[in-house]
Amino acid sequence: MYLEKALEIREQSFKILRQMGIPKELLYSICLVPDDIKSIHDVAKDKNISSILEIGSFVGVSTMVLLTLFKNSNICCVDPSLSIASDAETYGATIHESTEYFFKALSNHFGFCDKITKIKAFFSKLPDNNTVAYHLPNNPNILKTPVVSTIQEGNRKFDLIFIDADHYANSVQSNLDLTTKLLNTNGIVVLHDVYGKWGEEVQKGIKAFIDKKQEYTFHIQGTVGVVSKKY
Ligand SMILES: C[S@@+](CC[C@H](N)C(=O)[O-])C[C@H]1O[C@@H](n2cnc3c(N)ncnc32)[C@H](O)[C@@H]1O
Repeated sequence: MYLEKALEIREQSFKILRQMGIPKELLYSICLVPDDIKSIHDVAKDKNISSILEIGSFVGVSTMVLLTLFKNSNICCVDPSLSIASDAETYGATIHESTEYFFKALSNHFGFCDKITKIKAFFSKLPDNNTVAYHLPNNPNILKTPVVSTIQEGNRKFDLIFIDADHYANSVQSNLDLTTKLLNTNGIVVLHDVYGKWGEEVQKGIKAFIDKKQEYTFHIQGTVGVVSKKY
């Protein structure tokens, strides 16, 4: 039932964001697709998920979906809230607002504000020089964005950590190094983009992590990657 609702929330989010001026091609190229939502549901359906950490929220589509799939959960989102002007220009659109503007609109619309803690930062490391150069014209302060090296609030730990952020292998490895310190016992890390354009890089980062931290295991379920502790 929550799966159906989550798929519907994605559709509704897209409709709202398109009305706010975001080209549909941009949403389709960046945000979760229905198979990802089914995969996340299948991976975690038998688990008791009450605390989620999301790395890379963008305009909030995946956040709304996760809060719908896991009805009794709260979510902490880490994202630098960059302007989407550079992405929008690729699709011939002019948008000056940051991702935060759209994220807030969706959170308000679905009544999720009380369930969300938002941290405006890069998780674990700054992006590489090419990524900085791409965003710099529309985000002149990008290099002043804080970098999160832990989640401060009361040594908080999470049942589900969803990573859909910087897809370069060294960033994926760095994100996994930090997220696995924040996992509850029996918690899981779910990674987006283990296939497709970024698949090779993402899987390279996961492999580098697993090679060093052999107490963890990795498998692919549907369209997502899953990292968890071996028992
Ligand atoms: C692919 S988008 C996320 C899409 C979103 N999960 C969805 O499905 O709706 C990637 C996001 O990660 C952010 N990002 C990049 N590097 C990051 C980092 N180190 N920590 C947190 N977010 C990061 C980007 O700015 C962007 O907003």
